[in-house]
Amino acid sequence: MNWDVMDARNLYYRDAHFDVILDKSTIDAITRGKHPNLYAAMALNECQRILKPGGKFVCISHDDPDRREVHLRREHLNWRVKMLKMSRSEKEVDIYIYVCTRLIDESSELWDKKYEGVLVDLMKKEMKEDDIADII
Ligand SMILES: C[S@@+](CC[C@H](N)C(=O)[O-])C[C@H]1O[C@@H](n2cnc3c(N)ncnc32)[C@H](O)[C@@H]1O
Repeated sequence: MNWDVMDARNLYYRDAHFDVILDKSTIDAITRGKHPNLYAAMALNECQRILKPGGKFVCISHDDPDRREVHLRREHLNWRVKMLKMSRSEKEVDIYIYVCTRLIDESSELWDKKYEGVLVDLMKKEMKEDDIADII
């Protein structure tokens, strides 16, 4: 097994490379940090990009659908989302497993354009002009 360390917003794997991606609380961390919507949109776009069509992004989270689906269902993400709730005892927090299955791309240009639109919109909402230089 290889152990690669990199930024989830900029993965250096090639397109359509993996059958399955497993996230355990990395998106949770990103959505609790700086520019949560923008950085989650970037990381999720990278997951989509490196998944094969039909591949699955499995996201294990403490976030319920009210908190998580806004990220998983953004316009640039062409996948089907299913959720499983793992309820344990009343004392323990619930765990949610989101399984996102990448659909077949009709046109990569269309999805690139949607991603660009999402980025511009979220940058305007979450970033000051000075910050934008950090991620370009
Ligand atoms: C809550 S911990 C979960 C760690 C591990 N998956 C686990 O379940 O024990 C969140 C992890 O996300 C990592 N993380 C946060 N932002 C990241 C990013 N942009 N790229 C890669 N990892 C990131 C943090 O460094 C941290 O290790």
